[in-house]
Amino acid sequence: MADDDNTALAAALRHCATTVEQALDNLLPEVEGTEARLAEAMRYSTLGGGKRLRAFLVMESAALFAVSLTCAARVAASVEMLHAYSLIHDDLPRMDDDDLRRGKPTSHKRFDEATAILAGDALQCRAFEILGEPDTHSDPLARCELVVALGAAAGARGMAGGQMIDMLAEARAHTNPLAGPEVIHLQALKTGKLIQYSAEAGAILGRAPQSQRHQLAAYGRDLGAAFQIADDLLDAEGTAEEIGKAAGKDAAAGKATMVRILGLDMARTHAEMVAKEAASHLDGFGPGADHLRALAAYVVSRRS
Ligand code: IPE
Ligand code: IPE
Ligand code: MG
Ligand code: MG
Ligand code: MG
Repeated sequence: MADDDNTALAAALRHCATTVEQALDNLLPEVEGTEARLAEAMRYSTLGGGKRLRAFLVMESAALFAVSLTCAARVAASVEMLHAYSLIHDDLPRMDDDDLRRGKPTSHKRFDEATAILAGDALQCRAFEILGEPDTHSDPLARCELVVALGAAAGARGMAGGQMIDMLAEARAHTNPLAGPEVIHLQALKTGKLIQYSAEAGAILGRAPQSQRHQLAAYGRDLGAAFQIADDLLDAEGTAEEIGKAAGKDAAAGKATMVRILGLDMARTHAEMVAKEAASHLDGFGPGADHLRALAAYVVSRRS
């Protein structure tokens, strides 16, 4: 990727992070009294960290269809809440049992397990609530489509379903490990579906033709696949300081990853190929999609 593209993408990502941070801060207000603890835990895991990749996909895909910034920012904040919930639960002792997330203690370490579970639950509810509120789109049909798409992406045939396969695969790692196509399926669900949704959300908000929505969905699907392989590579090769979470845990836990199937070098080559394929789905869009194209290269070259 050219240096100019890198610089422009980095600036755009920073700008998006500021916008979504502001929206999250407004949409997750501090609370006093008996409900304060849950609100605090929700804010703790959502504000002040993360690459905001999913938010960026919403904002950039929405910009293709000239969607109002305030509507796009609400949908971007909503998907970041859903994502934060998935991370809180992913880190729980009965799941990946992690103590560090975004460079600080995980929710169950900072609070306790019950609070972490409830903060995740409540963030998930808030994500859907925001999509349904009139400020998100003037057309109730658009709001309804967002709710349906996020539900599908996050549920049993999406993120939660992928997380289940991930846990089952870990348990059988030494007797009957998953084969390559099964790992691809696992990752498409646990990571790919939510990233795909994020890229499609702009088309839903913009009432775009089905063909353009499908192109963005295909882009998101391939981007998500490349992104998760890069996450697995960072687990194997990165440091906790770089990635803000423990490194070197996947191999020890027997996680089903493409690194385990292909080895480091081939997994990287595969991720780069899938990222190129992601960008190719944007051929029908003009220069307005340049940030999304650059993002495809970034997700596999990133160090955090
Ligand atoms: C981590 O996602 C979980 C995966 C699906 C790999 P991110 O790497 O996007 O996490 P943040 O939001 O930047 O912390
Ligand atoms: C988790 O994948 C994906 C989610 C749905 C949260 P990982 O377990 O690899 O994510 P990290 O490495 O903990 O961020
Ligand atoms: Mg996990
Ligand atoms: Mg994890
Ligand atoms: Mg990981």
